[in-house]
Amino acid sequence: MSLPPVIAIDGPTASGKGTVAMQVANRLGFHYLDSGALYRLVALASQQKGISPSDSCALGELAFAMQIEFKNGLIFLGNIDVTWAIRDESIGVLASQIAVYPEVRDALLALQKGFRRAPGLVADGRDMASRIFTDAVLKVFLTASVQARAERRYKQLIAKGISARMDVLLQDLQERDARDIQRATAPLKQVEGAHLLDTSNLSIDQAVERVLSWYQEVSRN
Ligand code: DC
Repeated sequence: MSLPPVIAIDGPTASGKGTVAMQVANRLGFHYLDSGALYRLVALASQQKGISPSDSCALGELAFAMQIEFKNGLIFLGNIDVTWAIRDESIGVLASQIAVYPEVRDALLALQKGFRRAPGLVADGRDMASRIFTDAVLKVFLTASVQARAERRYKQLIAKGISARMDVLLQDLQERDARDIQRATAPLKQVEGAHLLDTSNLSIDQAVERVLSWYQEVSRN
């Protein structure tokens, strides 16, 4: 029996891939995997337990043993709703630091593959196409200029009443991009056969339609 189809959407931080991936999943009635949330959960749990960001063994064990649940759009660690806590910028930075360790990445492997259920899955992250779902029917590399991404992040934070500075955001994004691209294990990259989707000048709706039309094309074949 063939496995349910996967649409893999990879890209840098704040590219809008999460929003696009979630809407594509909704439109198709597919499941959705936000793999970045898993790395953010490890980051948050490690902070709570006082584990050093350089202790790769302890981080790997923690990632393996974490009790997490995705329910009705909310994310739980243990029994605590951490949906908002993991979105904090400091947790994103820590997630990017601990994501360099093979121990952490391996511990999250089976968990991620478990999201692949009928009728299909839309998965977003950095290594969905290159490592986790190499047989994805559609691979998309979704990006935007660093300036466009920093502006989007700035607007999101201000809308939430959180103060932000463009120069700081720009530097943060550049550092995280460099770490995600340059790491030895499962670096962020556009794999062969992936469609490039630059959303610098596209609305969310336009990006969603583009992915859906590519999916229709591959489903016809
Ligand atoms: O997509 P995000 O910003 O929520 O991800 C947070 C960090 O997690 C990101 O900087 C790198 C890491 N990550 C990863 O290494 N591999 C993934 N598949 C997803 C996220």
